[in-house]
Amino acid sequence: QAPLRVGVAGLGNVGATLVRILQKDGAELTRKLGRQLEVVAVAARSRSRDRGIDISGLEWFDDPVALAKWDGIDLFVELIGGEDGPALAAVKAALEIGRPVVTANKALLAKHGVTLARMAEEAGAQLGFEAAVAGGIPVIKTLREGLGSARIAKVFGIMNGTCNYILTRMGNEGISFADCLKDAQALGYAEADPTFDVEGFDTAHKLSILATLCFGYEIAPDRMRIEGISSITQHDIQVAADLGYKIKLLGIAERTDNGIEQRVHPTFVPKGSAIAGVDGVMNAVALETDHVHELLLAGPGAGGPPTASSVLSDILDIARGTRVPPLGVPSAELMPYVEAPMRAH
Ligand code: HSE
Repeated sequence: QAPLRVGVAGLGNVGATLVRILQKDGAELTRKLGRQLEVVAVAARSRSRDRGIDISGLEWFDDPVALAKWDGIDLFVELIGGEDGPALAAVKAALEIGRPVVTANKALLAKHGVTLARMAEEAGAQLGFEAAVAGGIPVIKTLREGLGSARIAKVFGIMNGTCNYILTRMGNEGISFADCLKDAQALGYAEADPTFDVEGFDTAHKLSILATLCFGYEIAPDRMRIEGISSITQHDIQVAADLGYKIKLLGIAERTDNGIEQRVHPTFVPKGSAIAGVDGVMNAVALETDHVHELLLAGPGAGGPPTASSVLSDILDIARGTRVPPLGVPSAELMPYVEAPMRAH
């Protein structure tokens, strides 16, 4: 079988980790797959930056769109980030020529996911986005392939590793919000603009993608109540603890009699509950369905290796020729939507 030649656009934390894994484990992956898998080209802003990887033998592109269209690759990986700009242009350019795309870009999908999924379906190209929600947890695969016909009533969880890391350390060690955030940035968990993490927008992006997969609703991150954790103090954490709770930033989407309700806010969760035990950079996604009741998937939610590993799982699926079911892109019809009132979980 012909080799699968991969082009990677964006060499930040996740991109550089992916290239490192592909270079280090390429031979083993090739053996497992029975097909050669190699990264052949990269695109990034700076060629000279030290990323701890050897890119000297790879084709270099300044322009991610040129890489996306280059006929030397079979699969395009978008790890640039950003909801529009070069990420959108490059993903569209690849899909337009029927080239499979793997992306970890939740902001891009939250804004353009349905359009891109339709483009991919029309072109017969795969669009993998396992890494876009809950880092290393295979939640997209579970939703698309694992739950069969189960009707989902509610999806909720901890979807931002940075916030969970901050809340955990504030609670366990009494460290200030600002210091915890600095550490989360140094560990490579936070977004380029950490406002997205701490103000709840990143959770909103991920929740809106999950809600679309669960409920067949157009992706609508703008149609939810969003409150982040930047105003949470040690006092709040202490009061919660005294009452027998922990504070977690939850994203929650559920069916109600009036439509789908989506909300993101700091939430009191009872100590001793499964979700309260999910600490540090871990994420957890709970699914309530009519057949399996509550399913809780937990695992590392941010950082280079877990996120790159989800990107890699999409790449392997495409290399194997696995056709994932279509997104089940909703028709233009929207379900009625209800404003989320403030309440505890
Ligand atoms: N900044 C994100 C987080 C990265 O902290 O969860 C993973 O999407």
